[in-house]
Amino acid sequence: MARIAPSLLSADFARLGDEVRDVIAAGADLIHFDVMDNHYVPNLTVGPLVCEAIKPHSSVPIDVHLMVKPVDRIVPDFAKAGASIISFHPEASEHIDRTLSLIRDQGCKAGLVFNPATPLAWLDHVMDKVDLILIMSVNPGFGGQSFIASALPKIAEARRRIDASGRDIWLEVDGGVKADNIAAVAKAGADTFVAGSAVFGEKDRKAAMAKLRGALAGAR
Ligand code: DX5
Ligand code: ZN
Repeated sequence: MARIAPSLLSADFARLGDEVRDVIAAGADLIHFDVMDNHYVPNLTVGPLVCEAIKPHSSVPIDVHLMVKPVDRIVPDFAKAGASIISFHPEASEHIDRTLSLIRDQGCKAGLVFNPATPLAWLDHVMDKVDLILIMSVNPGFGGQSFIASALPKIAEARRRIDASGRDIWLEVDGGVKADNIAAVAKAGADTFVAGSAVFGEKDRKAAMAKLRGALAGAR
């Protein structure tokens, strides 16, 4: 099953509730919610208050991508604000195993995020605590960047690890995903696709989603 997760980062921030409804009507499976702190990444976005504000507008799970350091203090706030999935970067946590457990204890799915230069070895001892692996195909911090091709073999390697584990772990890809590369991303083994500019950057979100779905169908 292929899930598409439009990233709010490219939405109109003055109309977030309407924007969320718009992409869900267009078939979004998740709402990807990028949290940046001007410390772990050189940009500043939104926090739990905004997550809580969009929650009543979202009939699909909210997929929170934390680009913040430290991680643990803010996790319960996002759980209370309605997050279904909370993902974080291993470099931003002092105790990765503890953070993964904290997220699950708060009733959310736990995700680990890999920057382009971050090795998958961080997964070695925590596969049983991970519900989602997020491979970054850009360096985190901004929407609208170009897809880094070396993400493809990395996605394939993550797929091999997931299959070997026998666990139900989602494999998400984030950054520069468009209609012209989403099939290759799917072929490499991803099942969940973040798309910021490719969806919210387009006026007609239905057409943008249909274009991505069409390209995905071609991958099979
Ligand atoms: C980048 C964010 C992405 C971003 C993707 O740090 O994590 O989720 O919104 O935007 P596009 O799809 O435009 O690359
Ligand atoms: Zn993201």
